Amino acid sequence: MPFTPDSALTLLFDAALLPPSLNEKLAQHSLHMRPLASSDYARGHIAVLASLTSVADPGEAKWRERFAALAAARGGASPYFVVVIVSKDTDELVATGTVFLEPKFLRNLATAAHIEDIAVDTRMQGKGLGKVLIEGLTALGEQCGAYKTLLDCSEENVLFYNKCGYETKGVYMAKYK
Ligand SMILES: CC(C)(COP(=O)(O)OP(=O)(O)OC[C@H]1O[C@@H](n2cnc3c(N)ncnc32)[C@H](O)[C@@H]1OP(=O)(O)O)[C@@H](O)C(=O)NCCC(=O)NCCS
Repeated sequence: MPFTPDSALTLLFDAALLPPSLNEKLAQHSLHMRPLASSDYARGHIAVLASLTSVADPGEAKWRERFAALAAARGGASPYFVVVIVSKDTDELVATGTVFLEPKFLRNLATAAHIEDIAVDTRMQGKGLGKVLIEGLTALGEQCGAYKTLLDCSEENVLFYNKCGYETKGVYMAKYK
């Protein structure tokens, strides 16, 4: 499929929130970072997420419902930012990640950012894409006012996040229903 420019897509948020310098770097490898688009189900969004965990494919109609809900959250000023990296050669997604904003009462009504769902296509891992993605998501959160960015990960990915500038703080806990 020929590459679809941002101008021909319905994007989840304003692409100007992403640092242009990262796309200058990615362009050398025929890659492009942008917000998730309403048509990205067809570009393999679920397949990319499958490199992170087992994903049940919701089907395109339900996927589009979720996209619309994220876009409309908080009256259109959505705090959910899903970012993708797309191959300019195939127009398919090769990486995705999310950052969302948490408005706090603490620290004089500060905002914290949380990174979630980082996935690089298995065939594209080890080429620096994960690092660029984390850089983009962190910059995006900070651009939106976040004073800190938090994430959790498995033991085996600690070194990767260290290389992205993140440090271990406290202990992550979860309770699944
Ligand atoms: C973890 C993941 C996001 C890393 O992305 P990636 O594109 O493969 O990583 P990069 O090529 O950007 O690596 C950046 C640096 O981290 C290092 N690195 C990457 N993964 C690592 C790991 N698991 N352990 C130690 N170092 C790692 C790389 O060697 C590289 O080091 P360098 O800068 O010195 O060359 C990717 O492998 C992935 O999607 N894995 C499956 C899903 C997953 O685990 N997601 C994270 C959930 S928390």
